[in-house]
Amino acid sequence: MKLIGIETSCDETSAAVVENGGKILSNVVASQVHVHRRFSGVVPELASRHHVENVNWVIGAALKKSGIGKKDAARKISAVCYTRGPGLAGSLVVGQVAAQSFSLVYGLPLVSVNHIEGHLYSVLLKHRELKPPFLSLVVSGGHTELVIVRDFGKYRVLGGTRDDAAGEAYDKVAKLLKLDYPGGPAIDALSKRGNPAAVNFPRPYLWGSWDFSFSGIKTSVVNYVSKNKYRTEDVCASFQQAVVETLVNKTMAAAKAHNIKKIAVGGGVAANSLLRLEFKKAQKESGRTVFLPDTELCTDNAAMIACAGYYKFRSRDNKRSFKTAMSEGIEPSMKLEDWNAR
Ligand code: KG4
Ligand code: ZN
Repeated sequence: MKLIGIETSCDETSAAVVENGGKILSNVVASQVHVHRRFSGVVPELASRHHVENVNWVIGAALKKSGIGKKDAARKISAVCYTRGPGLAGSLVVGQVAAQSFSLVYGLPLVSVNHIEGHLYSVLLKHRELKPPFLSLVVSGGHTELVIVRDFGKYRVLGGTRDDAAGEAYDKVAKLLKLDYPGGPAIDALSKRGNPAAVNFPRPYLWGSWDFSFSGIKTSVVNYVSKNKYRTEDVCASFQQAVVETLVNKTMAAAKAHNIKKIAVGGGVAANSLLRLEFKKAQKESGRTVFLPDTELCTDNAAMIACAGYYKFRSRDNKRSFKTAMSEGIEPSMKLEDWNAR
């Protein structure tokens, strides 16, 4: 079964064709980094305009790369999956209209997907053997969530960030240090030349809850650089050490507390080299298994939307979900919910 996915929730316009939720036949990503770089952040109005410019050719390229001609789409594709939320309203609407049009033109079912679910299921593109229950840490520019995946489409959210998402903290610290945008990869790269023990930034564990908080670390960096002479590499490495330690230790503690043997990680920050290394170390020490997506599938892409859409489409609830999807609006503040919750 081949599904097409369309993702436009933030600043990447992406379309992908994925077979049976696991085999990526194409995954085209048109990045807008060059548009937003000079603002050190995503400008929503510019993002939606660029999605409009890109979405048609990106879908066309994804079809072509997968070997499916436009005339064959109705026969060879089983459903159209798109990101309904959370994300920027003007960006989401472009992907939704494109997906609805595709669905109407080719007479295909429409499956709406939560962007967080996309990151959560992205690990299955590499590890099809991973079956629920597992614990998932979704860490991106917009989200930091710790979720127990009880079954496909059945979640228990343990906690989330109370302020900045981890990726947001990376981006803000990078901006403060006048580094490139997006900040995560820039800090990751510079940290390799820095001393992670140079500055002892706080580890905000918030024990007693499974929530996170990253604005305190960010403020500590602001205070430190305003009062001290410093090497940028050392501040980067020390900041990264504090963020990664917090994420890894808290996730492993949650797995232990809930007696969960399998842990998955997803979202842009899951591309971080130290995070990946520390999770691998924690796996050895704890006897639990940590599953990571391929690095290039951590940041926003449509393959993960087609993957999550596949599991949703084949679930018991699929008939209802694709019938109602055509009349659904976008949901910029969409929460992670069970598939049969509405
Ligand atoms: O998942 P994503 O593409 O978009 C959202 O859903 O937010 O994540 C983007 C975020 C940005 O904050 C970016 O700085 C961060 O992921 N990121 C990284 C790395 N690569 C991307 N953070 C740390 N280390 C990286 N290597
Ligand atoms: Zn994302």
